[in-house]
Amino acid sequence: MRHLLTTKHLSRDAAIQILDVAEDMADVANREVKKLPALRGKTVVNLFFEDSTRTRISFEAAAKRLSADVINFSAKGSSVSKGESLKDTAQTLAAMGADAVVIRHQSSGAPQVLAESGWIDAPIVNAGDGTHEHPTQALLDAFTMRRRLYNGQSRGRDLDGVGVVIVGDILHSRVARSNLWLLETLGAHVTFVAPATLVPLGAETWPVAISYDLDATLAAEKPDVVMMLRIQSERMNAAFFPNAREYSREWGLDDVRFAALPTDTIVMHPGPMNRGLEISAAAADSAQSTVLEQVTNGVSIRMAALYLLLSGDREALL
Ligand code: NCD
Repeated sequence: MRHLLTTKHLSRDAAIQILDVAEDMADVANREVKKLPALRGKTVVNLFFEDSTRTRISFEAAAKRLSADVINFSAKGSSVSKGESLKDTAQTLAAMGADAVVIRHQSSGAPQVLAESGWIDAPIVNAGDGTHEHPTQALLDAFTMRRRLYNGQSRGRDLDGVGVVIVGDILHSRVARSNLWLLETLGAHVTFVAPATLVPLGAETWPVAISYDLDATLAAEKPDVVMMLRIQSERMNAAFFPNAREYSREWGLDDVRFAALPTDTIVMHPGPMNRGLEISAAAADSAQSTVLEQVTNGVSIRMAALYLLLSGDREALL
């Protein structure tokens, strides 16, 4: 693996390898000393052109637990806001000796541009590009599903036959796209549920069932996993649904819908949550919710990704 830009071209074996290395990383988190020397002397740059809290902190924690040095480069307050181009920024980072670049960018495709540009010869990790992809989020979601569904017996396994319903703002969601490709590769069945206005054009050609009726879908499928997505108001320049109450009534995981779910259905959300809009507080804070586990698992997944990209020598690690 040279870069981690998308889940679309990740093979089943490569995906399972990342998930299994993340299991090793999670074991490290339970030790008294949480740090491994694996990436000592390496420099990881977090290049964030778009606001983020949990993803940036998660990559930072992951790099530090592997003993790498971390440079956080936020586009606000940097020369980028003075008009410096991605090319100049990348060349500056290369000149400083960055060994890996984690990039979040508002434009779909920016990480790929960086990877193919020749401006910098370092592994590039996509931490979310526009509405396109967010591969480490999908990997941490798959990791979380595997751990919950297989009760600690998850190593080596895919998600064959697992039913996943992904609900909400699919149109703007890089999380939904990365999840779809990865879940497909791992053998899960995916259904998107959303108002018609929030389903992207062309989605009918994707390997996914599409529904506009949440109650009917939940009743018919009794899914193993329900993943709620955030309504991304900051990307909406038009009215995609009548109002928040209407959205919540039709497509939110409110208390009544949550109570009707099978008790072993897990409830996921990538965060940040709009409580009371796409998910009720009771659902988000329930024992079925994996919201905080997803955050914890995110560090293990990002450790695995950085480790595989920067050293690639699994045997030497543990
Ligand atoms: C997601 C993102 O930024 O794409 N969040 C995250 O990575 N924690 C989803 C979202 O913003 O709704």
